[in-house]
This record gives sequence, C-alpha cells and structure tokens, in this order.
Amino acid sequence: MILLTGGAGFIGSHLAERLLEAGRRVVIVDDFNDYYEPARKRANLEGIAEHPALEVVEADIRDRVRIEELFARCPFRAVIHLAARAGVRPSLAQPLLYQDVNVGGTLVLLEAAREAGTEKFIFASSSSVYGDCPRLPLNEAEPALEPVSPYGLTKLTGERLCRVFHLQYGLRIAALRFFTVYGPRQRPDMAIHLFSRRIVNGKRSRCMETEPPGGIIPMSTISSPVFWPSSRPISNSR
Ligand SMILES: NC(=O)c1ccc[n+]([C@@H]2O[C@H](COP(=O)([O-])OP(=O)(O)OC[C@H]3O[C@@H](n4cnc5c(N)ncnc54)[C@H](O)[C@@H]3O)[C@@H](O)[C@H]2O)c1
Repeated sequence: MILLTGGAGFIGSHLAERLLEAGRRVVIVDDFNDYYEPARKRANLEGIAEHPALEVVEADIRDRVRIEELFARCPFRAVIHLAARAGVRPSLAQPLLYQDVNVGGTLVLLEAAREAGTEKFIFASSSSVYGDCPRLPLNEAEPALEPVSPYGLTKLTGERLCRVFHLQYGLRIAALRFFTVYGPRQRPDMAIHLFSRRIVNGKRSRCMETEPPGGIIPMSTISSPVFWPSSRPISNSR
C-alpha cells in the first residue's frame, strides 16, 4: 500500500493512475486547496475515483493527528510525497505559508513514516534548489546549492530533512529534482499552460531572455512506474 500525498494534483493524479494500473493499493492525501481551482483537482481524479484500490483522504499534511491516525490504520510500504505549495513567484508573496506546508508538512510525514517503520520515502524536490547556479548543465552533484526563492529554499530544506532521517533513522529516501513537467492537466499557473492559453485566445506572449535555462520533462517520463521504484536512495548520492 502506497501513501501518495498531493495525489489530486497535476503530477500526483497521473502517478495515481499508473500505480493503480500496476496493481498497487493507493491512499491519496490531498487538501484540495485553492492555489488553483479545487474543481480542477477533483476533475483530475474523475477517471479513478471509483477504483476499488484507491482511497482519497481529504486532509492537510500539516495535521499531525490525522496523519498519525492514517499511518496507524494503513500499513504503508512507501510514501510518495508530492503535496506542496508549488510555484516560485507565489512563494515570494507568501514565504511563511510555503515554509509551513513544504517544510513543516514534510517533517510531519517523515516523522510518521519513521514511527510506522515505512520502508521507503520519495520526496518531490525541484530544480529550484539550483537557484542561479552558473555551472551548466545543472548536475545532481553540484556542491553549491543556493536557491533564490522561498520555494526553492523549502525544497532544499525538505531534501536535507530527508537526508537527516536517512542518516539518523535509516529511512530509505529518494529525492527527485523535477524540472518543468508538461502534459495533460498541467497546473494552470505554469508557463507552458499560460503560453498555450494565450495562443488559443489569439494573444501575444513575451519571452523573457533572462529566464533561467532549464529542462522540460514529459509527464510520460515522470509518471512511469519504472521511474519511481528505481530511484536511487539519497545516500548513494552526495
Ligand atoms: N510541475 C512541475 O513542473 C514541478 C517541478 C518541480 C517540482 N514539482 C513538485 O512536484 C510536486 C507536485 O507538483 P504539481 O505540479 O503536481 O503541483 P499541484 O499543485 O498540481 O499538486 C500538488 C497537490 O498537493 C496538494 N497540497 C498542497 N498543499 C497541501 C497540504 N498542506 N496538504 C495536503 N495536500 C496539499 C494540492 O492540493 C495539490 O493537489 C510538488 O511538490 C512540486 O513542488 C513540480
């Protein structure tokens, strides 16, 4: 049984479909918050909502009591932790909220996984941890990680919390640094979605030459069942 946080979101809903197709039992925890329309998130799950191997729990990952109850009730073999406040620019306006959810919520889950003896914990990090790194192409082994946004900082802190839980408690961890993911149901605040909407509406878009170089990853790669279980534990990297 797998706990998938943020499973109603863009990446999470695709991954939930793939895991169910692969015969896994999945429990989604998502608070359906209004970062973008909650109706979109409910629609993301329409295709699998009635699946007998899926349970959807509407809860906030910061709610320690509910999370502990869930771990006491369900024998999770793995946690795939995607729930987060995403987006670089909104984090500049709400750094406390980003810290609260992305760091505090991650800690609640790590602690629950530790206490329950969960085998594996997979954390969705971000290319934002690299900040304005001048060395290209960006590399997992980059020693100087200097995020330049509250969002990037919360993701780096999340990675480091994961590492501490691995070193001190033996939790098997993988932290995956996603670059821009694209595909159906993409978050409406993301650039590809914004540009596409403007093109469809016959509007011009302005490309910023100062945009940091990055990569885009198709959803088919991110949601592949092969991609997730084969992720190396964090202890194998730097
Ligand atoms: N989409 C990308 O290109 C991209 C790039 C880098 C990293 N990421 C990371 O991947 C993960 C998934 O991103 P996404 O694009 O699918 O975002 P998303 O916003 O579509 O999905 C996140 C989900 O988490 C849920 N959530 C947020 N706060 C919560 C809380 N406190 N309690 C419970 N649920 C909560 C939201 O309701 C949402 O359904 C995030 O951690 C994000 O930071 C995404």
